[in-house]
Amino acid sequence: MGTTPRILAFAGSARSGSFNKRLVAIAAAGARAAGADVTLIDLRDYPLPLYDGDLEERDGLPAQARTLKDLFLANQGLLISAPEYNSSITPLLKNTIDWVSRLVTGEAPLNCFDGKVAALMSASPGALGGLRGLVHVRAILQNIRVLTIPEQIAVPNAAEAFAPDGSLKDAKQHAAIQGCGAALARMIAKLSS
Ligand SMILES: Cc1cc2nc3c(=O)[nH]c(=O)nc-3n(C[C@H](O)[C@H](O)[C@H](O)COP(=O)(O)O)c2cc1C
Repeated sequence: MGTTPRILAFAGSARSGSFNKRLVAIAAAGARAAGADVTLIDLRDYPLPLYDGDLEERDGLPAQARTLKDLFLANQGLLISAPEYNSSITPLLKNTIDWVSRLVTGEAPLNCFDGKVAALMSASPGALGGLRGLVHVRAILQNIRVLTIPEQIAVPNAAEAFAPDGSLKDAKQHAAIQGCGAALARMIAKLSS
């Protein structure tokens, strides 16, 4: 018997009405249903300054970055719903990755990412659902040694896609997003068996 897959889930948006926060919550439920232990966080609760090397040299790693690093270290998987800004990654998600990637004395380089497995999704009011941004997020994660699973869903027309209870109105789409979370849980379980 393998151990329970541990997954950190979050959206690359701080916005209170964020479609991506709603989407990742659905995927997190799918991962839990598949047996994973999921920690769903809101990056709004981990405010970080824009990465600045002078600031880091003067003050070291911000306390919130250390907290996030510990959350990354405690989990084997990353479930990320990444909004698309101008065809790419949001500054919030990139800034989070940048701070978490910073080397702390005694730690191995990229230890918060190395060997992790990730599943990606996105939601956008536009017709492509944020698909173009996911290409960039996937490339960044790959370069910092994160294995991203092929399951990936972009939800277009997000302003009309969600029901008031946070579920997706389209039951098939809802199940597919849950399936993304479940696929991540299964992949982690396979890799750790
Ligand atoms: C600076 C900026 C750039 C954006 N660029 C895109 C884009 O390239 N493609 C797209 O589909 N939506 C784009 N959008 C719209 C976002 O998809 C929309 O704001 C979405 O609600 C953000 O995700 P959230 O709801 O999780 O906060 C952009 C929004 C902002 C603020």
